[in-house]
Amino acid sequence: MCGIVAYIGKREAYPVLIKGLHRLEYRGYDSAGIALLHKKEMNIYKTKGKVADLEKFVAGNDTQGHMGIAHTRWATHGVPNAINAHPHCSGNNNLAIIHNGIIENYLLLKKALQKQGYTFKSDTDTEVLVQLIDYIKTNNNCSLFDAVQTALRKVVGAYAIAIVEKGNEGEIIAARKSSPLAIGMGKDNEEFFIASDVTPFAEYTNKVVYLKDEEVVRIRLGESPKIVNLDKTESEINVEHLNMSLSQLEKGGYPHFMLKEINEQPQTILDCIRGRINRPATDVKLSGVMDHMDKLLSARRFIIVACGTSWHAGLIGKHMIEEFCRVPVQVEYASEFRYCCPVVDEQDVVIAVSQSGETADTLAAVQLAKSKGAFVYGICNVVGSSIARNTDTGTYIHVGPEIGVASTKAFTGQVTVLTMFAMCIAKMKRTISKERYEKILKGLKSLPDLIKEVLQYGNKIKDLSAVFTYAHNFLYLGRGYNYPLALEGALKLKEISYIHAEGYPSAEMKHGPIALIDHEMPTFVIATSDSIYEKTVSNIQEIKARGGKVIALVTKGDKFVSSMADYILEMPYVDECLAPIVSCIPLQLFAYYIAVQKGRNVDQPRNLAKSVTVE
Ligand code: M6R
Repeated sequence: MCGIVAYIGKREAYPVLIKGLHRLEYRGYDSAGIALLHKKEMNIYKTKGKVADLEKFVAGNDTQGHMGIAHTRWATHGVPNAINAHPHCSGNNNLAIIHNGIIENYLLLKKALQKQGYTFKSDTDTEVLVQLIDYIKTNNNCSLFDAVQTALRKVVGAYAIAIVEKGNEGEIIAARKSSPLAIGMGKDNEEFFIASDVTPFAEYTNKVVYLKDEEVVRIRLGESPKIVNLDKTESEINVEHLNMSLSQLEKGGYPHFMLKEINEQPQTILDCIRGRINRPATDVKLSGVMDHMDKLLSARRFIIVACGTSWHAGLIGKHMIEEFCRVPVQVEYASEFRYCCPVVDEQDVVIAVSQSGETADTLAAVQLAKSKGAFVYGICNVVGSSIARNTDTGTYIHVGPEIGVASTKAFTGQVTVLTMFAMCIAKMKRTISKERYEKILKGLKSLPDLIKEVLQYGNKIKDLSAVFTYAHNFLYLGRGYNYPLALEGALKLKEISYIHAEGYPSAEMKHGPIALIDHEMPTFVIATSDSIYEKTVSNIQEIKARGGKVIALVTKGDKFVSSMADYILEMPYVDECLAPIVSCIPLQLFAYYIAVQKGRNVDQPRNLAKSVTVE
């Protein structure tokens, strides 16, 4: 979490940095701060709250300078206030640092520095790091570049940092380990951008260098960046081409990114399947699968590791891989997997699912699986992200930047890729009939149109959500392919509206949650027609018999559920394994409209950050 951005070049740094912070605000919004270097002075402004609060705080002050660093914080060590906000300075105020990550051994380092007479203003681990760098620089009389490398060799933990020095206006030092860092390369080395992701500089340059773990970079105007790793070996600079348009980073007339991203799904699904399913929809090819067929076909089992919404996509993936490929699949929370002493070896294929590709637990699970010899397949959205780079192969979901904290289009992209993955393997294993295979591929191709149709119910869902803003609790039920969807619907509602919501497999309701049912506890049932539809009908009867209010998602033409439920939303017919990709749209819209009506900050819900880069 936390977003960092730095600039050096000919432009005024302040507007570039503030705009960059706005783009990174999805990573945390507890406090914000900026340091600007100008005429051998360093002006630092920090405040609790959002980037907009920082702008108000800075208004009227000196913002001159062509170089600076800025930070938006998701608090880990120390409460969100101005003192704990970044940038943090060395005691003599010569060095300023911004940091995303956690220095795990900061207390030990702090005690050692205190013994040397260092004092601290904040409760943060970051201040310890900048003081350590200062201590090394002063005592070894070395350059900032060398001091940073020496300091980082003593650090345990995760970091993406940028450091500047008063009076040294042509140079920024940056480094990373386990937290992402990208460098935007201006023309002829005349300007450079450093940021947690490419969004702050995508409008200025399309050349990017992704720093690797334990690499430290020295950026100087007019020079090619110098990158060394912590054992002092110089690395080659690998400049990649960035393919991102500005419109992908803006709301495009929508009041929130979340609504924009929900509405983008017909296009993002199209982008996700483009070039992968042939025109008559008779074949699907994923290069990540085709290039590693031997490994994938001989897998004894698949283990899917993920967190949050990506974990829900993984549950749908399990159902599909088991049904169509007849290989056992385990779905694990990455945070549990990494600490549960898992039985994994070279006969296993681990699939890591992550929108950001930076989730700390998922990344650690990938590294653990690799260390045990498993082959690791990544399903990520962010191109060049840490998980994408750490896996043996994989498939990008290609849904474009997802900025709303609540994941929407990434979920449908992940399920789409998992479907194509299952189809590729099932075909090679001959565990699926030609008819079913082609039916599912045709179904995948029809998804954009079906989603467009469902998006037209937006106003109806808005009216429906107005009825339920009173609720303090919500139950979501689904079975089979729709059970993970119940979990996802509940997660969407709780994270952006703060209404408590539980997702359950419908039949499990009788084993406990049914005790909660009364006229104040609404239930959202996903009851589209599938192989266990009749069972779901019985579950709805059980809720109605206890006075519960029911909203049901049904397939067009449904008679039974429609006569029982209080409110229904009709979905177009689609093969049951693909139904979650269509049925999640009303769940996303329902959560969105309830949150809006309750006046919540939909894109930046409290306490959350988009990219969870701490464990
Ligand atoms: O970037 P990832 O997909 O790895 O993120 C995983 C979760 O943090 C994420 O899905 C989270 O649960 C979302 N806020 C859900 O909307």
